[in-house]
Amino acid sequence: MKIVMLGAPGAGKGTQALNIAKEYDIPHISTGDIFRANIKNGTELGIKAKEYMDQGALVPDEITIGMLLNRISESDCENGYVLDGFPRTIPQAESLRAALSENGDKLDYAIDIEVPDEEITKRMSGRRSCPKCGGTYHIEFNKTKVEGICDVCGTELIQRADDKPETVLSRLETYHKQTQPLIDFYKEEGILETVDGTVSPKEVFKAVTEVLG
Ligand code: AP5
Ligand code: MG
Repeated sequence: MKIVMLGAPGAGKGTQALNIAKEYDIPHISTGDIFRANIKNGTELGIKAKEYMDQGALVPDEITIGMLLNRISESDCENGYVLDGFPRTIPQAESLRAALSENGDKLDYAIDIEVPDEEITKRMSGRRSCPKCGGTYHIEFNKTKVEGICDVCGTELIQRADDKPETVLSRLETYHKQTQPLIDFYKEEGILETVDGTVSPKEVFKAVTEVLG
């Protein structure tokens, strides 16, 4: 099964992509996580990506598309994957479609998690992330068993550098300008599924599994 997750920053793409990956036994591929791992390791790609991420802007397509297409050509992707944070522009979506169709393949679902902007800004300040396994929590809505520690791997949680209120606002603006048009792109392809992202993470996942079957 090949799935892409759509939705504003903080809509819950990462939270639900992890659930999907576990339930359907497919890799969870987050371009944001790949960039953050590169920043942490001080790679050239990380240094470049950080310039854009700190501004709430998108990393240029020239960097992002090749990186993602390489990743999905790895052997663990043979039975599918869930993409989280890619595509984010029409050229990214077109490149993905072209790469898949070279092998007579296509995406199965684009799942759009809908959350209004006001709700997003509230969520971001309380998010805590695991730098090791990518686990995502919230100090109010999705608590860990032990405060500040990842339930899955026991690592100390961090707050993401781009979760400052002013950066969140520019990420939202970037989303509306550059990424929201993908909703119509996938509607026209006939694979768009919309779920309400304002209910609890559990209820969102229930709606997602109803879509995926
Ligand atoms: P990325 O890491 O993808 O960030 P994002 O899209 O801004 O999305 P987030 O990870 O912030 O949110 P999410 O939807 O995953 O929500 P989450 O599950 O964490 O990208 C970061 C940056 O990298 C971009 O700004 C860009 O610069 C660059 N980049 C990445 N991909 C790129 C690409 N393809 N092209 C160019 N540049 C790219 O949930 C958020 C919070 O809410 C958590 O605390 C969670 O616990 C909580 N929560 C989740 N669900 C619920 C719920 N139902 N109710 C209440 N709380 C909930
Ligand atoms: Mg995420």
